[in-house]
Amino acid sequence: MNHPITSRGSWRLCDGSYKHGILCIRTLAIGSPTHLVSSPRELLVTTALPYANGPLHLGHLLESIQADIWVRSLRLAGHRVSFVCADDAHGTPIMLKAASEGIQPEKLIESMQTAHEEDLGRFAISFDHYHSTHSPENRALVHKFYRDLEQGGHLLTRTIRQMYDPKIRLFLPDRYIRGTCPRCGAADQYGDSCEICGASYDPSDLVDPRSTLTGLPPEARETEHVFVKLENFRDVLLTFVHEGALDRGVRRKLDEWLDTGLRDWDITRDAPYFGFEIPGRKQFFYVWLDAPIGYLASFEHLARTRSDLDFDHYLKPGSPTELYHFIGKDIIYFHGLFWPALLAAAGFRLPTSLWVHGFLTVEGQKMSKSRGTFLTASEFAAAFPPEALRYYFALKLGAGVEDIDLSLDDLIHRFNGDLVGKLVNLAARSAPFLRHGASGRLAANLPEPALYESFRAQRATIVAAYEAREYASALRMILDLADRANQYFAGSTPWKLEQSDPERARAIATQTLNHFRLLIGYLKPVLPDLAHRVESWLDSPVTGWSELDTPLLDRSVAPYTPLLTRLTTRTGRPLSNPPSPPAEDPHVSEPKEMIDIDLFSRLDLRVARILSAERVDGSQKLIRLKISLGTEERTVFAGIQAHYAPEDLVGRLTVVVANLAPRKMRFGTSEAMVLAANDGATGPFLLAPDSGAEAGMVVR
Ligand code: MSP
Ligand code: ZN
Repeated sequence: MNHPITSRGSWRLCDGSYKHGILCIRTLAIGSPTHLVSSPRELLVTTALPYANGPLHLGHLLESIQADIWVRSLRLAGHRVSFVCADDAHGTPIMLKAASEGIQPEKLIESMQTAHEEDLGRFAISFDHYHSTHSPENRALVHKFYRDLEQGGHLLTRTIRQMYDPKIRLFLPDRYIRGTCPRCGAADQYGDSCEICGASYDPSDLVDPRSTLTGLPPEARETEHVFVKLENFRDVLLTFVHEGALDRGVRRKLDEWLDTGLRDWDITRDAPYFGFEIPGRKQFFYVWLDAPIGYLASFEHLARTRSDLDFDHYLKPGSPTELYHFIGKDIIYFHGLFWPALLAAAGFRLPTSLWVHGFLTVEGQKMSKSRGTFLTASEFAAAFPPEALRYYFALKLGAGVEDIDLSLDDLIHRFNGDLVGKLVNLAARSAPFLRHGASGRLAANLPEPALYESFRAQRATIVAAYEAREYASALRMILDLADRANQYFAGSTPWKLEQSDPERARAIATQTLNHFRLLIGYLKPVLPDLAHRVESWLDSPVTGWSELDTPLLDRSVAPYTPLLTRLTTRTGRPLSNPPSPPAEDPHVSEPKEMIDIDLFSRLDLRVARILSAERVDGSQKLIRLKISLGTEERTVFAGIQAHYAPEDLVGRLTVVVANLAPRKMRFGTSEAMVLAANDGATGPFLLAPDSGAEAGMVVR
């Protein structure tokens, strides 16, 4: 299958790598650096569609804020960006939540959408349109995709056995089944994987499985489903992965999956289900089929209201426009394999790239309701100015997929120190000198034009950092300039000149206010509301970067009024008052009962060397390890694929439970257990002894 891969025109993209503070621009396609391009680029940018079964939380906001900063910086550079999103309104959880509230799902998703849009507005996310996947546009598009898949010969039907809850007459998604892990015996594990030992399995492998909805043992029932033959799209996907503009880490991940083989993708769900019905079947489309199509539905809706936007121009193969999806690292598979395959099947262009971010932790921990570290958008906004979160996320964000931690004390500290202390302070200190005998007018000339020019000259690097999604670097440069601006002001001691040379004092204030205006302009993608307040105060709107080139001179400036308020202590509920009773957090197990030394000494813990490692066909988690315990070799299955490539493991030392009874698994027998740290979100991380240890050593 031959399909035009992306719509690369003639520009360069920055790969955002910094060495010794210098931005390295890597050429991805021929042409000139983006910030020098004279003809505007046309971009369609999306964030992942939040599920309509709960309020937006700070993890969602990390993504929206990251994308919004990017979009705003591109708009300031003169590019044409359409920024769209929608609620992901379908699926079993939404159906069940509506049922538990005694309302129709339509009612639930409507009120969720209103709440989501309110939250996004509070945090100044500048979507051009926010749609719903439960919309006429999406239904029509989903039908088109399905028709094209069918006509292209990409579908097959197959009878599968699935767990079924006979009491509520529902086929159960894996997360609605819990039971005892077939491998380590841990109780109350999810239907697809064990959080204690990392084993992955089929729900039917669970010992004593229960439906979480009724507590009853589910029964296996046969049902016929429709699958997409993903292998049909191997060539398209290889081109997308290898010739597209993906970041290295994302490409590696996708490559691994391509190497292990593309399994047929089940796109059917049995009734009852909240979603779109499949024409000609009494079944529904799986939510993950219609969700990404929702990107297009949202854009189609937008394009219909705007004479300057044409849907086909953006979506046809070979389009000169660019398409980017901001997503979290948990949904790379859907966006890097399923979605490009669907687009290709339906005759659309493929994404230019996927911009993938890591996960948000709060106070060093996974967001958790029981620990009070689960913060919703509206809880945060009730306690802090939303700008503080935008600023803090920007301080922490680079282009990589590393997780990001939010510490509220640190946030308060940085907001007060950087924004109030360094930046706004420039205006607060200098503005009064304009009023002294000068009736609030700025001087006619800058006393230090070269200094202003050096601030101005940094713009290209700062803009390039934004474009490379290296916001932390952009802010570092801006804060360095703020330090220089403060040094200039303090070193010029205008307060000593107020009486003797008010003109000179006014000139110093004029210089400083222009530094301030420039820096607030540079911060505009991050802090659009603050920038707007400054623009109104100075009566000089900024709609493009170049408007900052010319300093403001010889004009009246209104008296200064405070632009930001220091954050004093935490107000509001977040963190200070975790909700009670503590809800269960599946990722952290409670302290277990005490055991005595005898029981402990029955564990045979040993250092093992990994001799070979290979992925297990048909499992996305397991790696088959051959290990040496010094005198003997064993085969072990470890659920560590999420974090390790087999080739990285060979030769390493780790720690195993050597006397765990062998466990028969679907793929073979596991003859020991490898120890790894896991919080369910980021790891697992293999335990390893310090250097000097050798295979076979006893661990005590
Ligand atoms: N509905 C799907 C996406 C469909 S896109 C066609 C979904 N929804 S979600 O609400 O669970 O997540 C939406 C986005 O928020 C995802 O990109 C996800 O990675 C991101 N985040 C959810 N929790 C997060 C954190 N704790 N930290 C950072 N981002 C996280 O997946
Ligand atoms: Zn287990």
